[in-house]
Amino acid sequence: MTKTIRKAVFPVAGLGTRFLPATKAVPKEMLTVVDRPALQYVVDEAKAAGIEHFVFVTGRGKAIIEDHFDINFELNATLESRNKTEALESVNRDLPKAGATSFTRQQAPLGLGHAVWCARDIIGDEPFAVLLPDMLMKHHTPCLKSMVDAYAKTGGNVLSLEACDPAQTSSYGIVALGDTLDEDVHQIKGMVEKPKPAEAPSNLFISGRYILQPEIFDLLETQERGAGNEIQLTDSMLRLVETSPFYGVRFRGTTFDTGTKLGFLQANIAYGQERTDIHPNIKSELAALLR
Ligand code: UTP
Repeated sequence: MTKTIRKAVFPVAGLGTRFLPATKAVPKEMLTVVDRPALQYVVDEAKAAGIEHFVFVTGRGKAIIEDHFDINFELNATLESRNKTEALESVNRDLPKAGATSFTRQQAPLGLGHAVWCARDIIGDEPFAVLLPDMLMKHHTPCLKSMVDAYAKTGGNVLSLEACDPAQTSSYGIVALGDTLDEDVHQIKGMVEKPKPAEAPSNLFISGRYILQPEIFDLLETQERGAGNEIQLTDSMLRLVETSPFYGVRFRGTTFDTGTKLGFLQANIAYGQERTDIHPNIKSELAALLR
């Protein structure tokens, strides 16, 4: 029997240097895609996958994230008194249940691996999900949902995989595949961090969603700094793969890296073009702008 994935970690303590100056005072995870913070989309993905508890690893200057997931009594009262029912619904619709969030601080941005390790006491001894909040993954089946479904059959650790240009493997954590278990579900035999194209075992990279066994925390505890002088999650996964099975779920949707300026613009257009509530002909309005 596999243990259910109940908790998800959202590492939101990074400095967002690729998006300065916007991120000088506003966390990049709170930049809006259409009319909601990027982070909200990723929390919704986790909800759709059955996640019950949302763990945010925050840092200095990130307090508005906590406020976003809380009730704003003053705002609610004002909206109510002005009969702004729709606006009121929009602020309350996304609220997690009381007690379903935890916030812990990564005191210094020492890397993604370190941020995940900061959640160890809140997660405890159970498998959990990690979602990179700046990666918006758009598909009719939410990425984490496909991974949770795969996990129910395989157990172990499950990673989201996407294909990159074979010439670009040196920018990613690349996996070596074993057997195919289901159409898009594969065993992972090994991982290589940023291999040269000639040495890459495939062109499939680890793309921003993880289901991990709690053993990862002991490895993160002793993990030395790696690329960028940061404590990297991938480095500990490279050690975990020796003792614990890993599986990959190939994601067939579109991923937007909203931590980059181009990815952020693309996400706004991709999500915006579906929003006929903003304008009845939003697609043609956007197309006219792009002509
Ligand atoms: P990134 O590397 O994309 O975020 O990490 P960053 O470091 O903020 O970005 P740049 O390169 O300076 O622009 C992916 C996710 O991991 C979090 C980030 O907040 C982001 O959501 N992260 C990263 C942490 O929580 N702590 C860290 O030490 C590093």
